[in-house]
Amino acid sequence: MSEDRVTITPLTDGPLEVTGPVTITASDGSTLETTDRTWLCRCGASAKKPYCDGSHKKAGFISTVEG
Ligand code: FES
Repeated sequence: MSEDRVTITPLTDGPLEVTGPVTITASDGSTLETTDRTWLCRCGASAKKPYCDGSHKKAGFISTVEG
């Protein structure tokens, strides 16, 4: 696996785990973070969007990971 490859993994009943060299930007284009690993909310309940803050557990978020 190349170190330049970005991998996005939907975690069961949780966030999207993003690994690889990524820059997370706000809607205005400003940089929020440059990192090699982060977790992005996909349940909509996080108070720290776009990041997961663990609120998916309290919200009872259920996902099905295909494949
Ligand atoms: S996925 Fe964790 S708070 Fe939304």
